[in-house]
Amino acid sequence: MPDTTTTDRPLHPLAQDPIRLLLAAGGTREPIDPVRYLGNRSSGRMGAAIADAAHAAGWRVSLLLGTNELDRLPEGPRIMRFESTAQLQELLRDQAPACDILVMAAAVADYRPAQPASEKLRRVEGRPLTLELTPTPDLLAEQSARARHDQMTVGFALEPEADLLRSGRDKLSRKRADLIIANPIETLDADGVRAVLIDATGERPVGTMPKARFAELLVAELAERLETKRTTPTDAPQNH
Ligand code: CTP
Repeated sequence: MPDTTTTDRPLHPLAQDPIRLLLAAGGTREPIDPVRYLGNRSSGRMGAAIADAAHAAGWRVSLLLGTNELDRLPEGPRIMRFESTAQLQELLRDQAPACDILVMAAAVADYRPAQPASEKLRRVEGRPLTLELTPTPDLLAEQSARARHDQMTVGFALEPEADLLRSGRDKLSRKRADLIIANPIETLDADGVRAVLIDATGERPVGTMPKARFAELLVAELAERLETKRTTPTDAPQNH
């Protein structure tokens, strides 16, 4: 008799459990004082599309969500909110050990105020204000360094078209990620993406397509890569 309980959803390759995705999306806000911050214009749309596609594929999705311009939040995933890079770092340290794949689609600040003021800064007529900024920790690099052999880390890179591959490869090795998804900065506000997948073996352009279609393609690609990684002996050459 046919088994009517099975589905065609991709399962965790070894344990037959759903793949556990930890996904960081949206932008950060770095406090200047209790009422002001440094932020960025990340819409969170790429991350939301990946969350939806992974959920639809039967994965267990945890979404770490920063500032965004989403009209609606993805419905399937467990959502945890963050504002600053420090809060995201805490969430990642806490959640990453239990994931199979970490995708860093968040626009993490590169710099933050070195000493946020504890009280609201006052304007003083005629006196300029200088903010000292300090580099943020590289969260993807930190998580890649902590990742076990059975885990994968994935980053995004938004680069000028002319520098896409060189800069993408540089990020792959600097952050020790399994995969970097490089996008031309020229497509920033466009509906579609024109991504190139970069790993230790080379790069593969995936063509121009809507974000939702790209997210589906990425989810299928990640399932395959996770299986390959897990069935490759640890002493064989790895992706980094
Ligand atoms: N990223 C991160 N922590 C940071 C900065 C970036 O984890 N402090 C992650 C992003 O989420 C993304 C990838 O690293 O997945 C690339 O981000 P990007 O801002 O392009 O890289 P940077 O390290 O900031 O390099 P650059 O300033 O040279 O572009």
